[in-house]
Amino acid sequence: MCGIVGYVGEKLAIPMVLECLKSLEYRGYDSAGVAYVDGKKLEVFKRVGKLKILSNFIENKIIPASCAIGHTRWATHGEPSEKNAHPHTDNLSVLALAHNGIIENFSALKKDLNTQGVEFYGETDTEVFAKLLQQNIFNENAIKSENYAMHSTMHNTIKVTKKCIIMAIKKTIMQCTGSYAVVFIFKGIDDVIFFAKNKSPLIIGESKYGKMLASDTPALLGKCEKFHTINDGEFGYISKRSICIYDKDFNKIKPYFMPIKLQLNEVILGEHQHFMQKEIEEGAKSVLDTLDRLDSQKILAKIPEQIFDINSNFYITACGTALHAGRIAKYLIENQLGESVDLDYASEFRYKRPQLNSRSVCLCISQSGETADTLSCLELSKEFGATTLAVVNVRGSRMESIADYIIPTSAGPEIAVASTKAYLAQLGAIYALIAHMAKIRNKSLDFSIDEIKSIVKANENVNYENELKEVVELIKNEESVYFVGRGLDYLLAMEASLKLKEITYIHSEALPAGELKHGSLALISEGCVVFAILTQSDLIEKTLNNVHELNSRGAKVVLFTPFIELKNFVYKLIKLPNVKNLLAPFVALKPLQTLAYLSAISKNLDPDKPRNLAKSVTVE
Ligand code: AGP
Ligand code: GLU
Repeated sequence: MCGIVGYVGEKLAIPMVLECLKSLEYRGYDSAGVAYVDGKKLEVFKRVGKLKILSNFIENKIIPASCAIGHTRWATHGEPSEKNAHPHTDNLSVLALAHNGIIENFSALKKDLNTQGVEFYGETDTEVFAKLLQQNIFNENAIKSENYAMHSTMHNTIKVTKKCIIMAIKKTIMQCTGSYAVVFIFKGIDDVIFFAKNKSPLIIGESKYGKMLASDTPALLGKCEKFHTINDGEFGYISKRSICIYDKDFNKIKPYFMPIKLQLNEVILGEHQHFMQKEIEEGAKSVLDTLDRLDSQKILAKIPEQIFDINSNFYITACGTALHAGRIAKYLIENQLGESVDLDYASEFRYKRPQLNSRSVCLCISQSGETADTLSCLELSKEFGATTLAVVNVRGSRMESIADYIIPTSAGPEIAVASTKAYLAQLGAIYALIAHMAKIRNKSLDFSIDEIKSIVKANENVNYENELKEVVELIKNEESVYFVGRGLDYLLAMEASLKLKEITYIHSEALPAGELKHGSLALISEGCVVFAILTQSDLIEKTLNNVHELNSRGAKVVLFTPFIELKNFVYKLIKLPNVKNLLAPFVALKPLQTLAYLSAISKNLDPDKPRNLAKSVTVE
């Protein structure tokens, strides 16, 4: 989703905003834009594509403004184009506004504005918000005119005050439904940035050099020492000297600042070429940090035991990679605790009328803690009286404030769109949760947390880049590949397949190896590349049967396995460390993630910013 920044202070605002937007590009990179206000001048610059294109364009311009806003977009309404890029302006060009979210009733509002003669240059819901807001601001001044042009000539003579803008924001947000974090500047009102927030994230940062608004803390790193989180329904402004926040009932809110705990080295590339490469390397650390924190802060022990009652109905829901972590949780609960679990995509769960009640426990998993589909499930579960648990990586996220109990992961900021280290951290949290549930039930398990720690430490520095070179060449020009496995290996295949497709654009499908013969085998032809995963010692023979079926149809099977003796049955074998069956995910993911990363590089693609995607998906 989009990233928003606003700065007002002693420094040059445009370079400041551009710099901060860099750390928010993970939220979208369809287009980028900035706007500043300086006396009677309000100017907007926007470009389609990544931020670099906009920065290069602005580089040589000297703009002495001390107040500016910026935006990096992931398009929801309207194609990625210059006219749809933010900041958006009104018909009189008196305000410039950047938005993250969706104004759900934008069509009706647009129709209404249209009948009043308001024209639109693009297709975004944001432009409707900007124009409605401008209309409300002018109406607040009791200027009634049939003719919009009159406003522009009258603009210098009418007195638009901060107060009337605040009243207009209040009115506008009452007219709009949906999610928004909006920031905007107004011509003639220097050094003030107005804002409003509902569902999409927005924070205020403060330093001795000025004040900022941003979607997320990485944008403030190195610029502000502390931040305040704006709550849903709140609106107001920041200026050089003051911060003014109102809640939805128009009460003034005092900001509550917290120190920014992030370290700069957590959000910069350092010696790495890409964030994805850095984050794959940090996978082991994120498992260990997660396990240590859960243990040292006794986080699971603080959750009331009755929540894990054997008779609870256990639901798991999440999206994408987080759902793949959930699949492993379901597998372990069923396999190790002998209890059944209902699991579904968050986008499906909500609409299938799940049988939730006060005996239900709903586990949501999310790196960002702001994925709209997952958040809706959390809210729905609470409505039905279920207890909600959330495995979340981002501190202070919306999911953290909503869920009854939080199981935090400690992966640190994950910047590449494709999730790698956060997934491993989620697995760490899940294994710890299963171990805790087993302890309550007095059940023994086929793994221990100490074993996880020791295999993760032992394999922390294994590097697969050389070994995978030949395989990368093999698939570089393929249109379609397959990942197969059985049991836990099938769950790993699903994640490996998602990783490969999202950053290489090679079509990839994960299949249970035993299912091939029920249809998908028809897709296999001479030379087709199939990745087989075989880490489960009790499944060697069965999976091998499927490998033979593939070989007979001419497939080139690349096998990820610790069982080196299978070398002669496949085109290529990638040797994995030999660990207990249930601990395989902790050693098998690194080579599978590295395979996706190297394949994207070999195709000259940016693995950190795959096309059409964004890191946090805050719309349904
Ligand atoms: C994974 O590589 C993805 N880009 C995506 O599937 C992601 O896992 C999903 O959108 C869920 O995000 P969350 O963990 O922040 O909720
Ligand atoms: N709906 C706005 C647009 O399409 C903002 C999108 C977002 O926040 O992702 O431009």
